[in-house]
Amino acid sequence: NLNLKKNERIGVDYIKGILQPTPTCDIWDEIWNFQAKPDDLLISTYPKAGTTWIQEIVDMIQNDGNIEKCKRAPTHLRFAFIELKIPSLPSGVDKANAMPSPRKLKTHLPIQLLPPSFLEKGCKIIYVARNAKDILVSYYHFQKMNAVLPDPGTWEEYFEDFLDGKVCWGSWYDHVKGWWEAKDKYPILYLFYEDMKENPKHEIQKIMEFMGKNLDEDALDKIIYHTSFDIMKKNPMANYTTIPGEIMDHSVSPFMRKGTVGDWKNYFTVAQNERFNEIYKEKMADTTLPFSIDD
Ligand code: A3P
Repeated sequence: NLNLKKNERIGVDYIKGILQPTPTCDIWDEIWNFQAKPDDLLISTYPKAGTTWIQEIVDMIQNDGNIEKCKRAPTHLRFAFIELKIPSLPSGVDKANAMPSPRKLKTHLPIQLLPPSFLEKGCKIIYVARNAKDILVSYYHFQKMNAVLPDPGTWEEYFEDFLDGKVCWGSWYDHVKGWWEAKDKYPILYLFYEDMKENPKHEIQKIMEFMGKNLDEDALDKIIYHTSFDIMKKNPMANYTTIPGEIMDHSVSPFMRKGTVGDWKNYFTVAQNERFNEIYKEKMADTTLPFSIDD
């Protein structure tokens, strides 16, 4: 029980310049000092980049394509979300510490806030990036339905907050660029949501290889099927409907919302798109990241 009044939200504060829900800030030392183990597998994303999707793929690969095994528990119990703290519930760190190895972990932290132990121990990390415009739309809807994040305000207000990086987990630009640079120094598989949509088989094969698994065609086909949007949307163990309505209200916006590329075109005005493109060019001038501005 969060004891939130109707429409009340958890507060936010800054950790080294990055906005985070207050309960996370309150236990930051514990998060920063998290002790990773060499066989931990970490999934890292900016919020709304397809975290839940990649989590399902990874769990299915680890379980050789056996969907029944993957339905043993909802996503948030199969993976520990390192920096998540919800009052009166065990923290992500507590959950991770109680997990048997090999552990599957999740984070949205920008690389400079990642607990150093992950890189020191050489953990395998899978990073998924998604184009900024679809993230903005998805994040706006998510903040509307999720009481442990701030109310996004109006679409116009949220648009500006996103451009300024004044949203939880900070600037999308810095996040994707920071992890892009890190991938050359550490065992990080850097994937794109758009590639996963276009050719799931190819991307799942890359993930399998990265995880050191070699599954047959039959298992691969099962993974492609069970991790498709329409099937995951109906799977209570993968669609977040087991979370109490006090935290996530799917009647406001379902967690499994659309799962498409280019939904931003239904929300951005022409003027917003022009402004976005201008700022995008500036902020992405110093990276080789292969995003197309019209994705
Ligand atoms: P939309 O809001 O655009 O629909 P995260 O898990 O990082 O919070 O990301 C959630 C986004 O990924 C949502 O985007 C959700 O619909 C989408 N998503 C979840 N599962 C998916 C799947 N199997 N295929 C495609 N998109 C998926």
